[in-house]
Amino acid sequence: MLVIASDHGGLELKEEIKGLLAEKGVACEDLGTGSGESVDYPDFGQLVARRVSDGSARLGILVCGTGIGMSIVANKFPGVRAALATDVFMATMAKEHNNANILVLGGRVLQAGLAREMVSAWLETAFAGGRHQSRLDKITALESELKL
Ligand code: RB5
Repeated sequence: MLVIASDHGGLELKEEIKGLLAEKGVACEDLGTGSGESVDYPDFGQLVARRVSDGSARLGILVCGTGIGMSIVANKFPGVRAALATDVFMATMAKEHNNANILVLGGRVLQAGLAREMVSAWLETAFAGGRHQSRLDKITALESELKL
């Protein structure tokens, strides 16, 4: 199960991505926003990050105007590895090296076609493991330490 959300700045691109996910047969739950009215990105970013953090969703996608605000919010949650990507290489590496469980996109930055390619690359790329897993383990250790 994949969860997706946006603010008003990411709404149009989110709808495009939902179309792509439907074409691919990827089940997706939209946690809002559902209108173009101005909203605050932390309110919607936290909905997706909470679900990925508690394990009730395996993957998430967040879209705001730039992707920056959503990234900041999502990475506050334990176990979340949210990656802001602006091209296909970054989206691919976000999974291959960082095992990013949330992909963050900027609705005012990306053309729809590029964003579709990025989402496809992120979904279809496998995590490489090995030395990259050791690095993720260090992030997990930091999360525990910083909670003290
Ligand atoms: C909303 O205007 C905008 O600030 C938001 O979508 C996002 O870009 C924040 O990082």
